[in-house]
Amino acid sequence: MQKAKENSIVNIAILLSGSGSNMEVILKNTLHGVLKDVCQVKAVISNNKETRGLKIASSNGIPTFFVNAKNKSRQLFEEEIIQLLQPFNIDYIILAGFMRILSPHLVNAYPNRIINIHPADTAKYQGACGYEWAFKNKLSETMITIHYVDEGLDTGPAIAKQKVDLRGTSTLNEVKHKGLKVEHLLYSNVLKEIFNAKQSH
Ligand code: GRF
Repeated sequence: MQKAKENSIVNIAILLSGSGSNMEVILKNTLHGVLKDVCQVKAVISNNKETRGLKIASSNGIPTFFVNAKNKSRQLFEEEIIQLLQPFNIDYIILAGFMRILSPHLVNAYPNRIINIHPADTAKYQGACGYEWAFKNKLSETMITIHYVDEGLDTGPAIAKQKVDLRGTSTLNEVKHKGLKVEHLLYSNVLKEIFNAKQSH
């Protein structure tokens, strides 16, 4: 697979609602890791003003934005995001713990260019609290899924899946810790493959 050309680095925006650990790793990798010269984080947006993720992005000099989702339609909320992103020439939107279901308004603004990571096999479990589901059901493994986003709840086509062995875990925290470790590695590697493949065409 060919490497991304230097003058065609992919511009990404990251949307998050929570702690932002996936965003943090992706950002680090764009600065001095596997995503260097492949893509750059142009903006980070959250619907949660106080999230750690916004603070981390902003302390790394990344433009960050809070968009309030309360008391407005999904269309209006997403239109604000679309407008905010416009000046940044965004190629891909990367969801990293963004706890909102997208409507066709945003999905159609970035067709096949919105990617999400899910802590379970999207064929078996959709929606929030994937690690809680695995823990409650005493699963011996879960399957991290990276997928394109459509307007359904974790229904878009899968891009990559990776198994996480949960045997030996006895608390929810251990399950999360094991899973996130895999997420952090997988997300950047998969993004690298997607963007490099795109650039070599
Ligand atoms: C991750 O488990 C991800 O799979 C899910 O939300 C969580 C986000 O974690 N979609 P973080 O905010 O990146 O730490």
